Amino acid sequence: MRHLTYFVACSIDGFIGDPSGDASSMYQYVDEEFLDFLKTDYPETISAGGRAALGLEGLESRRFDTVVQGRASYQLALDAGVTSPYGHLREYVASRTVGESPDANVTLITEDLVGKIRELKAEDSELGIWLCGGSRVAGELLDEVDELVIKTYPQVYGSGMPMFGSDFAVTDFTLDSVRAFDNGALVRKYSRKR
Ligand SMILES: NC(=O)c1ccc[n+]([C@@H]2O[C@H](COP(=O)([O-])OP(=O)(O)OC[C@H]3O[C@@H](n4cnc5c(N)ncnc54)[C@H](OP(=O)(O)O)[C@@H]3O)[C@@H](O)[C@H]2O)c1
Repeated sequence: MRHLTYFVACSIDGFIGDPSGDASSMYQYVDEEFLDFLKTDYPETISAGGRAALGLEGLESRRFDTVVQGRASYQLALDAGVTSPYGHLREYVASRTVGESPDANVTLITEDLVGKIRELKAEDSELGIWLCGGSRVAGELLDEVDELVIKTYPQVYGSGMPMFGSDFAVTDFTLDSVRAFDNGALVRKYSRKR
């Protein structure tokens, strides 16, 4: 079984965005050192637009070959006129309302989200599946999450969009690694205790 990894950016107090989901205050922490880390360890998580702007189109994927997004997260790309924000990966978008996929590289998941994720996890591949977010889709998929990679930026939000939009329940993880950056960002990697 390959892994589903929730690779996500959040505030110190665990919010992935402000109450509307906007995480733009965090962008300032993607400085040279942090970008080098992304380029080396998670190049596929840089959007196609970002890769083009930085001349990184050729970077080979290191961890993931597939990305799963909720429609609200995907909508940010659509609103910017981009129909395939991670065209270097196989893209899945959960939606009951979009109707028809706006891009040949994007497959819609319209029903049985958990079943589809289990199908993807059962595929034979060296690379895993990136759960991009947002909160609602992550909340529905919490039981399927095998790994967390949390990019924590040194900001407190006070309130906002939680990492998991789910009911209270305790789920245990084991800390695998922590990397600290000069600008105060931390990247923690956890494995699910099964
Ligand atoms: N900080 C980060 O790293 C990060 C990462 C990703 C996203 N975000 C933020 O997260 C925000 C969006 O999060 P969100 O919680 O509002 O929404 P979301 O999880 O991205 O998307 C929710 C939508 O997904 C679809 N969906 C959910 N469950 C489904 C199911 N079982 N079957 C089919 N479709 C399903 C529905 O789309 P329909 O309404 O079309 O049916 C639902 O409205 C964005 O503002 C973004 O900025 C932050």
